[in-house]
Amino acid sequence: EKGNYRHFMQKEIFEQPVVVAQTLQSYLRPVEGQVALPDPDFDLSQIKRVTIVACGTSYYAGMVARYWIERFARVPVEIEAASEYRYREPVMEEGGLSLFISQSGETADTLAALRHARAGGQKIAVVVNVPTSSMAREADLLLPTHAGPEIGVASTKAFTCQLAVLAAFATHIARVKGQLTQQEEQDIVRHLAEAPAALNAALAFNDTIENVATAIAPARDVLYIGRGPDYPLAMEGALKLKEISYIHAEGYAAGEMKHGPIALIDDKVPIIVLAPSGPLFEKTVSNMQEMQARGGKVILISDEKGIQEAGDNCLATLTMPKVHPLIAPIVYAIPVQLLAYHVAVIKGTDVDQPRNLAKSVTVE
Ligand code: M6R
Repeated sequence: EKGNYRHFMQKEIFEQPVVVAQTLQSYLRPVEGQVALPDPDFDLSQIKRVTIVACGTSYYAGMVARYWIERFARVPVEIEAASEYRYREPVMEEGGLSLFISQSGETADTLAALRHARAGGQKIAVVVNVPTSSMAREADLLLPTHAGPEIGVASTKAFTCQLAVLAAFATHIARVKGQLTQQEEQDIVRHLAEAPAALNAALAFNDTIENVATAIAPARDVLYIGRGPDYPLAMEGALKLKEISYIHAEGYAAGEMKHGPIALIDDKVPIIVLAPSGPLFEKTVSNMQEMQARGGKVILISDEKGIQEAGDNCLATLTMPKVHPLIAPIVYAIPVQLLAYHVAVIKGTDVDQPRNLAKSVTVE
């Protein structure tokens, strides 16, 4: 039931602080400052490579996870869209762990890729929201998200819960690989435990985001840019907008803009810049300024410090709570989801059931 909400998508966006907390609860031991994962029947410390395979929004969650796993655990990670993975004859070596991410657990491409990886001798880990799904049943290591049923076709709360699980997973591999001190693990756990409150703080900007949406709604094209773990989020933001508002949108790595797409920039293409303060802030802002110099109309999403430093010539700014860079991709999901939601409402599209799309894509 939708309760007081107008759409399931809106309800699901606002559920995120609770469902992310619920999900984290089964993966974090805050008192001990440790992550806790179910024990697989294989030795995770022997894993030599992680291959992440998924579709759509789940794929973008996987792209964020690649940063975390490589950074914390120093294990090489590759990631591929499920529809491509199977057909390029991927090399599967001993010691490979294949990680499949799916809300439904039934996406045909992802399920077929899972079976292909199993046949190739890979260990199978699955991050899935439906515990009775095919993927859940076929996992060697099952990592459930506890987002509850997601009804809106546009995935929102499943995504942030996937990120929460993936952060815990990255931390766990890092520990079993001997790459984390106790103190480092405690710090990660503390930052993750702060995510639900930060999600709440981000949701408090709903009305401001609704205002910004009026500036986006008339656009024909919209660009999203970010760096590092916020680059997949730029793509996720663009996917959300395309999916429910039918506006053409692209997500780009901020540094790639000058290799071509900057030619598109004029004062009719809004650019959403995802730039939390942190090690990548200055570089992202310099890419943003290159676009402003060409007439680009920027909507900067950052924290107070970032907006103070770089918000001056922007069309609009959205102030997010100051968070550790680790949880920024979880928190910054809120403004991109809400922006897409409000634009779609302004455009009068069918938010929960956008044209041409199904909740679960069970054909290849
Ligand atoms: O159920 P899955 O997570 O496997 O679904 C994957 C994609 O079909 C899904 O994320 C799709 O891209 C969403 N509609 C995005 O909002």
